Amino acid sequence: MVKLSDVNSKLQKAHYAVRGKIVIRAQELEGQGKKIIYCNIGNPQALKQKPLTFVRQVLSLLEYPALMDNPGPAAAFPADAVARAKMILEKNPTGTGAYTQSAGIPFIRQAIADFIQKRDGITADPNRILLTDGASKGVQAVFTLLTNKENDGYMIPIPQYPLYSATIELYGARQVNYFLDEKNEWQLNALELERSLEEARQNGINTVAIAVINPGNPTGAVLSKENIRMVIRFAREHKLAILADEVYQENVYAPGLKFHSFAQIMHELGEKEVTLFSFHSVSKGFLGECGHRGGYLEIRNMPDDVYAEMIKLQSIGLCSNVDGQLVTYLMVAPPKFGDASYELYEKERAAILGDLKEKAEILGRGLSAIEGMHTHIPQGAMYAFVRFDLPHPKGTDPETMTPEERHKYEAARDSKYCLRLLEDTGICVVPGSGFGQQPGTLHFRTTFLPPKEDITALVEKMKRFHASYVEKIKSA
Ligand SMILES: Cc1ncc(COP(=O)(O)O)c(C=O)c1O
Repeated sequence: MVKLSDVNSKLQKAHYAVRGKIVIRAQELEGQGKKIIYCNIGNPQALKQKPLTFVRQVLSLLEYPALMDNPGPAAAFPADAVARAKMILEKNPTGTGAYTQSAGIPFIRQAIADFIQKRDGITADPNRILLTDGASKGVQAVFTLLTNKENDGYMIPIPQYPLYSATIELYGARQVNYFLDEKNEWQLNALELERSLEEARQNGINTVAIAVINPGNPTGAVLSKENIRMVIRFAREHKLAILADEVYQENVYAPGLKFHSFAQIMHELGEKEVTLFSFHSVSKGFLGECGHRGGYLEIRNMPDDVYAEMIKLQSIGLCSNVDGQLVTYLMVAPPKFGDASYELYEKERAAILGDLKEKAEILGRGLSAIEGMHTHIPQGAMYAFVRFDLPHPKGTDPETMTPEERHKYEAARDSKYCLRLLEDTGICVVPGSGFGQQPGTLHFRTTFLPPKEDITALVEKMKRFHASYVEKIKSA
């Protein structure tokens, strides 16, 4: 039998906090009948968000095309859903049960290029677009492509979405942390990028790329155009590739803010040297189709011979799943004005995004009013990364600890806090140490995906819990 000691040590070392110990405990408590408010993961449909009708109608017809031959069932679908399914079957006659081209179905890659053109006003090359099983697989493909030597490193934001740190660990690459600026709405800071790169250099790391998440997970921040320009200039100066994780591009709520893609700003700067990998997904936005595992990766500034390696890599896994490709197509090519499904689609879209905006406000406003908690109304994405203050237990002085001891002490504190929160209130959030945080600070990440009444209840419960937790430490 395989023993744990036989298992890849890189896998053993990798951590993925959003599905960790606290979530397992939450499931146990739920099994015992306790009501849990799951705020640990951006999985909208698990939290009662309904799928878009049009997406599921077309998908159903494609999974079982015989429905279209039978006038009875066919009448249950709007004319444009039937027409769309027929068009897809014409362009992809092998249907959902056959492998596709490794890069993905050609007409879908063209539709993605058209989507980028419409979104950004710039051309995109369908032969630099790859369909992936969610953005996660796209990110991992890029790590496979770029991790060449043992000391190759990736700059990643802190706090970050743990896909990045876990993949770095898994691939034996080196993690180069740059801190996001909490005081400046979690934007990137030029001096901090230079500091981080220089520190890596001194540690013998050959940094090959910088990853940026916009809008941010776990921060909920939306990057300004100027911030993105700064990152592109930085990447150019230091010959780094950019991984632009843009899975939350539809999730911008703050008035006056707008999503800007790295592709568009690179175009605007006339940047022809920096290789850009941009990721998008069907899991977020207003589709929330996490289970369908669809997404794409768009590449700019990559020579043909390198791209051929990327295609080879995709071909080793044959192709991404076909339903995921189809949902990606429906994401980039929604019903148009005048189509039978247009009105309902727009109504469902507006309701989902409107609801998220409202919940972001309830959460941000409510939590920031609690004494000892600090956060803003999230500008975008699906999360708030909330800083909280705790007194130190009597006799403990973190200033006397080594950096490693302090890190351990703080990780234990935020984990303990989140576990107690779960036990006492049923609220399931993720400790900040799972995403990384500045030494001396404590955070947790919460989503604002649960229904509105749960978010309102969460704020109230959190207020009472935090006050009593602090009191217990003080009086211990
Ligand atoms: C920033 C970020 N990137 C990528 C992903 C992965 O998404 P997918 O479901 O497309 O693999 C997530 C999921 O939460 C995410 O938050």
